[in-house]
Amino acid sequence: MKATNQNESKQYLWWISFVFCLLALSFFFDVWGGKRIVKNNGSVEKKYFSTETVRTPLKEPKLLKEGEWYRCNDCHQSIAPSDVKKSFFSAHESVNLEHGVNNHCLSCHSRDNREFLVDSHGDDIDFTRSELSCIKCHGVVYNDWVSGAHGRINGYWDKTKGAAEKVTCVACHDPHAPQFKSMEPSPAPVILNYLNSIVQKDEPHE
Ligand code: HEC
Ligand code: HEC
Ligand code: HEC
Ligand code: HEC
Repeated sequence: MKATNQNESKQYLWWISFVFCLLALSFFFDVWGGKRIVKNNGSVEKKYFSTETVRTPLKEPKLLKEGEWYRCNDCHQSIAPSDVKKSFFSAHESVNLEHGVNNHCLSCHSRDNREFLVDSHGDDIDFTRSELSCIKCHGVVYNDWVSGAHGRINGYWDKTKGAAEKVTCVACHDPHAPQFKSMEPSPAPVILNYLNSIVQKDEPHE
């Protein structure tokens, strides 16, 4: 009695192993699998994930006029600084000041040397440090920017791969008309095919 029981359970073991092997093979050769339709999502245009900034800050105090580059002081060393509050000078057609009550060129530009800007102490600063000229009126945003809560850092988190660069204010805001221009929204994400069918079955939302 005992011996036959053992033989029977051994037979069951063989059968079970056989069925599992068959199952494994069927999964491997995908016997029941339907044809998977993978939709071609197409590629997203580069402009939607580009890390380029909307402006290129001036690196040097130079001006392009009629196809030629001039230093600011090529002209300004012989022009007495005017203290007139004007938002437009015909000599600088590209500059039309739209910065709210900040309507004076010299609140940012150095009065005595046009190749410099001024910081909150009235000291001359380089064009490459233009963010220091924003502090006197935007101290809170400036502190946010220093701590990384405003603006953006480009480059690498992993310093072994490359440098991280904190993008400066004027790479995003035109200092003369700083309101951020509205942007075209990126296209909606393309969802996976099987999700698509679920969404289509859904009743439209009220
Ligand atoms: C081709 C000559 C020329 C060049 C180059 C030039 N400017 Fe001027 N700029 C002028 C003239 C002319 C005025 C008008 C002065 C006036 O009406 O009192 C002016 C006015 C200004 C003013 C208004 C305040 C003022 O002095 O009356 C600022 C600020 C200024 N320029 C900044 C610059 C900066 C910064 C550069 C260099 C990036 C530059 N300019 C280069 C000719 C020039
Ligand atoms: C002398 C003070 C002063 C300085 C210096 C100054 N700003 Fe402003 N800024 C203002 C005022 C005032 C407003 C509010 C304008 C309004 O809404 O009428 C403003 C508004 C702004 C805005 C919001 C614009 C909008 O409508 O969304 C930005 C962005 C800005 N400034 C950027 C800068 C940057 C960048 C600098 C430095 C290059 C700078 N500002 C320097 C006074 C200043
Ligand atoms: C809020 C500060 C601020 C005020 C106000 C301001 N500027 Fe500027 N300006 C700057 C900064 C910062 C730059 C450098 C911009 C860059 O790096 O792209 C600049 C650049 C310039 C340039 C050279 C580049 C160009 O756009 O042609 C000229 C010329 C100029 N400013 C003239 C003026 C004149 C004229 C006024 C007054 C009508 C004025 N700015 C008011 C901050 C200011
Ligand atoms: C990477 C781009 C970027 C940089 C860098 C950046 N900003 Fe902005 N800033 C923005 C955007 C986007 C907004 C929101 C504009 C909107 O809501 O219309 C904004 C809004 C602002 C405003 C108005 C809203 C507020 O919070 O008061 C000010 C002022 C301002 N920025 C100043 C600055 C100054 C000063 C710096 C540098 C110290 C700076 N920004 C750097 C992109 C930038």
